[in-house]
Amino acid sequence: MKKSFASDNYSGVHPKIMESLIKANNGHESPYGGDTYTALAKEKFNEIFGPVETLFVYNGTASNVFALDILKEIGSAVLCPSTAHIYTDETGALAKITGMQMLTVPSQDGKLDLEEAKKYLQFKDTFHRASPNIISISQATENGTIYTLDEIKEISNFAKEHKMYLHMDGARISNAVVALGCSLEEMTRGCGVDILSFGATKNGIMFGEAVVIFDEKLKNRVGEFEYLRKQNLQVLSKMRFVAAQYITLFEENIWYENAKNGNDMAKYLEEQLLNINIKVTNEVLGNTVFAILPEKIIEQLQDFCYFYVWDPTISEVRFVMSFDIVKKDVDNFITKIKELISL
Ligand SMILES: Cc1ncc(COP(=O)(O)O)c(C=O)c1O
Repeated sequence: MKKSFASDNYSGVHPKIMESLIKANNGHESPYGGDTYTALAKEKFNEIFGPVETLFVYNGTASNVFALDILKEIGSAVLCPSTAHIYTDETGALAKITGMQMLTVPSQDGKLDLEEAKKYLQFKDTFHRASPNIISISQATENGTIYTLDEIKEISNFAKEHKMYLHMDGARISNAVVALGCSLEEMTRGCGVDILSFGATKNGIMFGEAVVIFDEKLKNRVGEFEYLRKQNLQVLSKMRFVAAQYITLFEENIWYENAKNGNDMAKYLEEQLLNINIKVTNEVLGNTVFAILPEKIIEQLQDFCYFYVWDPTISEVRFVMSFDIVKKDVDNFITKIKELISL
């Protein structure tokens, strides 16, 4: 079976999630989220995160755009690290759909540098500039780093002090939670996050992500946000199929086991790379490994098992471990590296 280390959405769907989709394909249900599966899935989110409002959407980009649209006030801009997926890889969807500007803070490691972020505060009270009313951070970050709980709290305190909301892009939050050994609730509500894009497409489901609202005032406005979601083209008619996956994801602890496997395999890959003197350039905490490969082997190695070149100037590459990678896949990959190096 051909596998790839390019990203965790190259993998398919966890068999139990596939089963849940098939089971949900039984009889008729009310559309647009009025079904029994959606009601139960929302309950599961309450169990995991404490009392929240949960709104399902199609994908990760949509969950970020919709979550940030919920936070939008007149004149708002979104402050985020320059590495943020919303800035680098969402085709300007935020600007197109919400009209909000992004204020980027230079970042090398994917994290938000609060000292640099402060420079934007001078624009908070002048109507000639969009106002940084929202902060968005990714957990885990696009660079494979993971904010500690204290770091998130520091950012949320900063946000509150300056009357800003805090959004978390949680496309890989499960990997971050496993890495830190805390709970999903501790990493979000416990750290003062106002709204979360909860992703699972990279962690074994087929499609559909969730916007999870913690802030009490926003929760009371969830009825309004149902309209906003529809205007953002994110109301699925057959919502039950998204919801059914989340029920199984939580009930069967798949979110945790899949993320743990991704993280463990990243650690294993790191060890095996170091054993053959390949330099690893990041601290491997989640499911992402960065390494410097000899330039001459990259193309042939990509043919064997695809991965992305991160920084071509230094032959730095990125490997992301999916939930279904096993040790044998890593061993075969290492054997191929050795073979190509010796050619
Ligand atoms: C950090 C992060 N956020 C959001 C997304 C968006 O997800 P989607 O591709 O489902 O729109 C991705 C996908 O790569 C991501 O890595």
